[in-house]
Amino acid sequence: MPVITKPKIVWITGASSGIGRALALKMASEEWTVAATARSVANLNALAEESKMLPGVIYPFAADVTDNHEICVLLDRIETSCGAIDLAVLNAGTYVADTAKTTCGKNVAALMQLNFVGTVNCLHPLIGKMRLRSAGAIAVVSSLAGYVGLPGAAAYGASKAALINLTESLHPELSTYGIKLQVINPGFVKTPLTAKNKFSMPFLMEVEDAVNALYKGLSSNKFEITFPTRFSIIMKLLKYMPYKWFFFITKRLFSA
Ligand SMILES: NC(=O)c1ccc[n+]([C@@H]2O[C@H](COP(=O)([O-])OP(=O)(O)OC[C@H]3O[C@@H](n4cnc5c(N)ncnc54)[C@H](OP(=O)(O)O)[C@@H]3O)[C@@H](O)[C@H]2O)c1
Repeated sequence: MPVITKPKIVWITGASSGIGRALALKMASEEWTVAATARSVANLNALAEESKMLPGVIYPFAADVTDNHEICVLLDRIETSCGAIDLAVLNAGTYVADTAKTTCGKNVAALMQLNFVGTVNCLHPLIGKMRLRSAGAIAVVSSLAGYVGLPGAAAYGASKAALINLTESLHPELSTYGIKLQVINPGFVKTPLTAKNKFSMPFLMEVEDAVNALYKGLSSNKFEITFPTRFSIIMKLLKYMPYKWFFFITKRLFSA
């Protein structure tokens, strides 16, 4: 598997805010050329402006990941202007808290369309391009919430579990094409996404710490990048716990 050396081209989706924005700045500070995607043109332009002080460069490429055609056209534009993408971090996504009352087809479809289908919309044309070159790396941002069903995250957790399952399924085949596929499972990170949570989030991380762990993981050959370590161990243990204890713990830890 190729080890990533700098300076190279990275495409980051969901780069206008939170983890994606901080990662774009981190990678530009490490001399990467960053193609930054999100819907908000103003936020992407502000990010590109901020990168002018850094050794690398950030270029804004606005698009909506839920629009399959728009993403295919965008990828061609990125590769024409910046060069072949060496690494893609498919990070665009959102969290909407739900309850038994609000978990309906319309709400679940909207969340799945962004978190799951939006990621696949990026993954499919990327694989096509990287396969032709027999090179490239793709990292899909899922979540520790994809390990198990947590209170208030029925649709979100399902969308993230679907991403973990998808990456596990594709990894063996992609490795035969020379494409490295990783899944990123963060715990709670301080971003606009978690600012709406009303409960006290265990092991909440600063976004800079999360991005440092993420960046380190990207240069490794590990399939799963997960942080913070103690929280990911707890979440792994929850997966195998008898349900009586599992519900006792999740109700106390993750309810408002
Ligand atoms: N924060 C956490 O604790 C945490 C934990 C585990 C996993 N995650 C995952 O990490 C990723 C980033 O989360 P975050 O906390 O950084 O959230 P955030 O601050 O809300 O950022 C979400 C990003 O996704 C972009 N986005 C949303 N809809 C989009 C669309 N249709 N097309 C293109 N871009 C779109 C947003 O930009 P625009 O609105 O401008 O499009 C924004 O840049 C998400 O996938 C999230 O599920 C976060």
